[in-house]
Amino acid sequence: MEAPLAGKTVVLAVTGGIAAYKAVEVARLLKKLGARVLPVLTKNATKFVGPVTFSGITGEAVREDLWDAGVSGELHVLLAAEADLIAVVPATADSMARMASGRCDDLVTATLLCTQSPVLVAPAMHPQMWRHPATEHNTNLLRDRGTLFVGPVDGPVASGESGLGRMAEPSEIVSAIQRHIQARQALPASADQRDLLGKHVVVTAGPTHEPIDPVRFLGNLSSGKMGFAIAEAAARRGATVTLIAGPVHLATPAGVRRRDIVTARELHDAVFAERDTTDVLIMAAAVADFRPREAATQKIKKSDQDDGAPVLELVRNPDILTSVGASRTADQPRPTMLVGFALETGDDASVIAYARDKVRRKKCDLIVANRADQSLGKDDNRVFLVADRRDEVPIVSGPKSLVSSRILDIVVAALS
Ligand code: CTP
Repeated sequence: MEAPLAGKTVVLAVTGGIAAYKAVEVARLLKKLGARVLPVLTKNATKFVGPVTFSGITGEAVREDLWDAGVSGELHVLLAAEADLIAVVPATADSMARMASGRCDDLVTATLLCTQSPVLVAPAMHPQMWRHPATEHNTNLLRDRGTLFVGPVDGPVASGESGLGRMAEPSEIVSAIQRHIQARQALPASADQRDLLGKHVVVTAGPTHEPIDPVRFLGNLSSGKMGFAIAEAAARRGATVTLIAGPVHLATPAGVRRRDIVTARELHDAVFAERDTTDVLIMAAAVADFRPREAATQKIKKSDQDDGAPVLELVRNPDILTSVGASRTADQPRPTMLVGFALETGDDASVIAYARDKVRRKKCDLIVANRADQSLGKDDNRVFLVADRRDEVPIVSGPKSLVSSRILDIVVAALS
């Protein structure tokens, strides 16, 4: 059987922290999976681990110098282009700050600034440094730009203290690298076309949480996986992608701008803030239809309830898809393409019937209908693509990456 990462190249960027010695194990595990590993070390990294260790493990020349006279061409450009993924292991607070501000005065940062491949960082630092607002700001900036994060985790750090800042274990970092490379590989060949270049695609994903009091909410079981897969596929096809995400635990796909929201009203405002520049809006979020009329400012106590349980009064949330559909006019033809989802619990025939009704009622161009038992929380999905003014209803089933690419095929066809 072929090794899982055979034919793939990982640029392993090692920056100067004590956890640099664990990057050797990352290199070893990646080699074991069949990847070609190109080590790039900062000057500070070499103070922690010798380059010879990395060349011994990987069988490749270790690069340190932006001005390497032995290479014909620009080394950072060559490395950036060859990488299927660049992993920064460990990522120190300083290297993250330098990445966030777009510095490029050494080989690691210049390669990172030059690449179009996914970048994954494994932060490692003292918990105080991880908690510092400057690092938090840099982390958010990097996440917004689509940088993938593994860790840090809670545990002992070099100083002997304990807290959030310890680098994730090498096996966990390697699993994340493998997952991201394979997820991209799973996309069909057609997704390599950059047929959404110049288009702004806004995707909503995940559930909304509607607060009952400071510690409780009304929510639903949406995992966000479908919306995240669509955002990733659209970015790969050249779109400028804004992903508006509810509370989910998923890494931002590479190259995707992410906005986090919690409630349906925040989602409504975030969608409308983008609307004037949106070419395609894909509402994959499972928006809560109702919210408690008022969220209590203090935790609701059992002892405050005379007859044992409070009664929650619910009010309707705005229907975002319907509002966007209704706001499209000849003067304001934005978004050009409006795609809704419909999550239902019936059999195939009733799912299609509901979707036909929704596509008309919500004035959208396409409804992607799916059954809760075949989609919620799963990596695969089975969907019915119900378009306005078309009798035929294609059914697509498979990994959410493949389903995403079929949905985008319809979007591209409609745009052209
Ligand atoms: N949606 C929305 N705003 C809401 C509820 C839903 O924008 N308040 C969007 C969802 O993101 C999805 C589509 O509308 O794209 C369909 O959601 P669904 O809950 O299936 O439809 P409803 O119209 O709420 O119908 P029902 O719950 O009665 O099936």
